[in-house]
Amino acid sequence: MVILHRPLSLLLLVFLSIPFTFTFAEIRFSEIRSDDRPIIPFDEFGFTHKGRLELNVSEISLSNPSPDLDLSKLGFFLCTKDSWMHVLEQIEDAEITCALQSGLIKQVYAFQSLTGAKKGFDMVYPQTDADQYTLVFANCLPQLKVSMNVRSAMYNLDGKSNSRDYLSAGKTILPRVYFLFSIIYFSLAGVWMYVLYQKRLTVFRIHFFMLAVVILKTFNLLCEAEDKSYIKRTGSAHGWDVLFYIFSFFKGITLFTLIVLIGTGWSFLKPYLQDKEKKVLMIVIPLQVIANIAQVVIDETGPYGQDWVTWKQVFLLVDVVCCCAVLFPIVWSIKNLREAARTDGKAAVNLMKLTLFRQYYIVVICYIYFTRVVVYALETITSYRYLWTSVVAGELATLAFYVFTGYRFKPEAHNPYFVIDDEEEEAAAEQLKLEDEFEL
Ligand SMILES: *[C@@H]1O[C@H](CO)[C@@H](O)[C@H](O)[C@H]1NC(C)=O
Repeated sequence: MVILHRPLSLLLLVFLSIPFTFTFAEIRFSEIRSDDRPIIPFDEFGFTHKGRLELNVSEISLSNPSPDLDLSKLGFFLCTKDSWMHVLEQIEDAEITCALQSGLIKQVYAFQSLTGAKKGFDMVYPQTDADQYTLVFANCLPQLKVSMNVRSAMYNLDGKSNSRDYLSAGKTILPRVYFLFSIIYFSLAGVWMYVLYQKRLTVFRIHFFMLAVVILKTFNLLCEAEDKSYIKRTGSAHGWDVLFYIFSFFKGITLFTLIVLIGTGWSFLKPYLQDKEKKVLMIVIPLQVIANIAQVVIDETGPYGQDWVTWKQVFLLVDVVCCCAVLFPIVWSIKNLREAARTDGKAAVNLMKLTLFRQYYIVVICYIYFTRVVVYALETITSYRYLWTSVVAGELATLAFYVFTGYRFKPEAHNPYFVIDDEEEEAAAEQLKLEDEFEL
């Protein structure tokens, strides 16, 4: 059993060391109120060679509007992550005193251009160097507090028609990716319905539950495709995002419930749930509710909102707890099956189930590890232009997990568990004996 528990703690470790990722690219409104932060980051965006930044700032007011303020030390600029490191070095080496003076940034607007009583400006800044940039506001005047309303929109112009594409360079094909996957899941649901019909005499309740999970996943992906394509065209996400959140919510709950139910052997091994197994469900389901609320807040506020980090931490924590919690029922089942194999004479039957459940345990761990850790790693190391690859990798892993689960736990007309002859029985008993020796 020691071996079984090790991945749990490993998983925990890896989770806790995950920092945050930023993935936003929409028209965004931000209200800055009496803010004296020297650097206020806004959104991040991957530009192609035909990129544009549209900036509308209104109701600018400064806490100390004396005429001899050096307004060239206030302003917006675009900067890549790499050049930001160099800018920080320049400031440290006292080459410059304000990020706006560095030659490494792309100055968008400095406030000395605000003449007279003007309290705002509208502008379009063409960004022709393809790269991933962050829009930043710098305030290099100590103790000066700034208030303003900022509307920022970053987009690329598409091919010949010059239509606006509000999705970042590496994400612009995401609508197609999600749509493709939703078609795959749709076919999977069809195949599963066919299997259920063919094997209708040996179908358990859990098989219908699996069907529901696949259908919810299909709709979830369909809404995500439509949501992303709407953002791509308009820069905002009204309408489809609500449907998307609803399906995500049910998909999350049913998927975790399914893993727990399969893990406990519910409806395969026994028709009821034990108390401790019910407790796992009672932990996982409310946590999934919280995770989904957190997801909505995270998506809607953007990476630099005040509550963003808190909600992101809540989400990560809840996710870790859920992922660990779903592993316990499988471990319990494995333990019970081991004991049953030793005591109740039907060693072969139990050994087969045991192998199945061990496999399932490993696959669940791989699935969780891949979709949380590997996908995140991919997202950090790939160039901004290929950000979609991490989405594809995550979806492929999920697909593999669904297919494995369906295949291994499919309804069977000739259940191999119950047609075993004496020879196999003896062989299994031998193997159990061997296993016991190794464990000592
Ligand atoms: C923002 O500024 C651009 C450029 O001047 C202008 O075309 C656009 O209409 C403005 N948008 C709003 C909402 O004021």
